[in-house]
Amino acid sequence: MQSVSASAPAKAILFGEHAVVYGRPAIAVPLNERKATVTIVAKEPGEQSRVIAPQLKIDSSLNEFPPDNAIRQMLEIVISNLQIDPLPPCKITIDSSIPISAGLGSGAAISVALIRAISKFLEIVLPDDKVSLISFEMEKIHHGTPSGIDNTVIAFGKPILFQKDAPFSKISLVKPLHLVVAGTGTRSNTREIVSSVRESWSKDTPAYEAIFDKIGALVNKAHAALKRGSITSIGKLMNENQGLLKQIGVSSPELEKLISAALESGALGAKLTGAGNGGNIIAIVKEGTGAKVLEAVKQAGAVFSFSTVINPSGLKG
Ligand code: PMV
Repeated sequence: MQSVSASAPAKAILFGEHAVVYGRPAIAVPLNERKATVTIVAKEPGEQSRVIAPQLKIDSSLNEFPPDNAIRQMLEIVISNLQIDPLPPCKITIDSSIPISAGLGSGAAISVALIRAISKFLEIVLPDDKVSLISFEMEKIHHGTPSGIDNTVIAFGKPILFQKDAPFSKISLVKPLHLVVAGTGTRSNTREIVSSVRESWSKDTPAYEAIFDKIGALVNKAHAALKRGSITSIGKLMNENQGLLKQIGVSSPELEKLISAALESGALGAKLTGAGNGGNIIAIVKEGTGAKVLEAVKQAGAVFSFSTVINPSGLKG
């Protein structure tokens, strides 16, 4: 039986979430410690295609999915973009170690892995930019009006400087980045949070625009610091970014608790990552100090945590 599989990494936004929706730059990195993997096994002609996704509690025939089911809609987008209707009978297994609704790009990683696995299955060669574009279409199902940062960083698998409606650039790191990620366990609903920020922005546009400008300026400084390998500056800028995210109302007591624990145990900087109001934090640490920070965030109530290193060559899932 023909069998193919493809994986895609999780991601973290290091700088610039929310402001990126309003045209400011942002920086994101792939996190290879967590992945989504899609495996496709051919079935006999005439058999029903089936989708199995244990983490999403899905095990059913494709034709039993309601029309508004996200996986069905995602498959329809791939099928129409690759012009392959109908999909040959197959069993699609989606496995993911990326926490859902935690700001780690689980939806985009599943999209990218699904697109790559289906194109492999059908022996269609797809460049990364096409994978990213199709995944962006899928992101709209989950997020409504995504900036496009998640699908871009996950499809290209490299640290990126991203700006909406503009070409992105890959960031060449000169030193490894040692990061700690920790989850509050509270779901972060990107669509709702982005729309509540939009509501606040429309009530006080000048104040919000001024904050977004500050975030944009800080992202440019962070980009320069990443290219210089100045870990201390990156940490300080993460703390500043967190202060501005707090001002736009997307932090929470649980996030603040994990951030304090990370900073008090030696992290050089820490902030929420993704949409916020729950979800998770990211901290930058000096090499060799990650274990202490991990222990501290666990003590402070993190429901999951892991350390990761982003290498200068970038990582690809
Ligand atoms: O929650 P996530 O991981 O999907 O990240 C959302 C990032 C935002 O800037 C808040 C929204 C976006 O589309 O860029």
